[in-house]
Amino acid sequence: MSLRNSCHSFLLVSLLVLWVAATAASALQLGSRDAKEWIDRLERPDRIAGLKVPEVVSRLGLKPGMVIADIGAGTGVFSRPLAKAVAPSGKVYSVDVDPGLLDYINQRAKQENISNIRTVQGKFEDPAIPGKDVDMAFFHDVFHHIEKRQAYLKALAGYIKPNGMVAMVEMDDKDPKGPHREQPEMLVSRANVDKWMAEIGFHPVKEHNDLFPGTKWIVIYQRH
Ligand SMILES: C[S@@+](CC[C@H](N)C(=O)[O-])C[C@H]1O[C@@H](n2cnc3c(N)ncnc32)[C@H](O)[C@@H]1O
Repeated sequence: MSLRNSCHSFLLVSLLVLWVAATAASALQLGSRDAKEWIDRLERPDRIAGLKVPEVVSRLGLKPGMVIADIGAGTGVFSRPLAKAVAPSGKVYSVDVDPGLLDYINQRAKQENISNIRTVQGKFEDPAIPGKDVDMAFFHDVFHHIEKRQAYLKALAGYIKPNGMVAMVEMDDKDPKGPHREQPEMLVSRANVDKWMAEIGFHPVKEHNDLFPGTKWIVIYQRH
């Protein structure tokens, strides 16, 4: 084989290896989209109207000074009101795997004079929060996008204070009209989440299932 041919073969094999690695990495986010597409979807006024953001935030029982981790924060639809609820001394870590979304969150926070949001580029199996001071981790419309759910919760527990909480807002996997009804890999049962939470020492302390009957469940878990 000539030197030229062997260089070509080496290049092809390298490209193949890179492609396989990239495919494996992207498989770690279920239902992945690019940042522009996420921004258009997540900020749609009809979506935001249906989320009942003020009602959900008021059910979390937040107090000024608390530290919240908004996991899979997206465009920050919840990060902004969460930040206001814990201001002035509290803060929100807005965690996402997509740097394009973190830029958007920073831009909106600046425009709206919100100074207590810290964006964090999380990893697919670890939120990588730069502190172990979280009072409450908050998941909204996110947990079903995480492939290694049990591993993610285990890693997350390490950033939460000893008596801290996890608030989970998740789609009802039995909703016949649910958006992911044809994607079983994106359906998460309440029973499994309870089981995985118990494994890391968190147990349900409050439920708010009157807000989205039959479509979404809201449970606050606490470590005790
Ligand atoms: C449907 S959006 C929800 C965004 C926001 N929570 C909301 O309700 O407006 C799901 C978000 O989860 C993020 N995500 C997916 N997997 C993640 C992971 N392993 N860690 C952190 N964020 C993740 C995505 O990038 C996306 O921004």
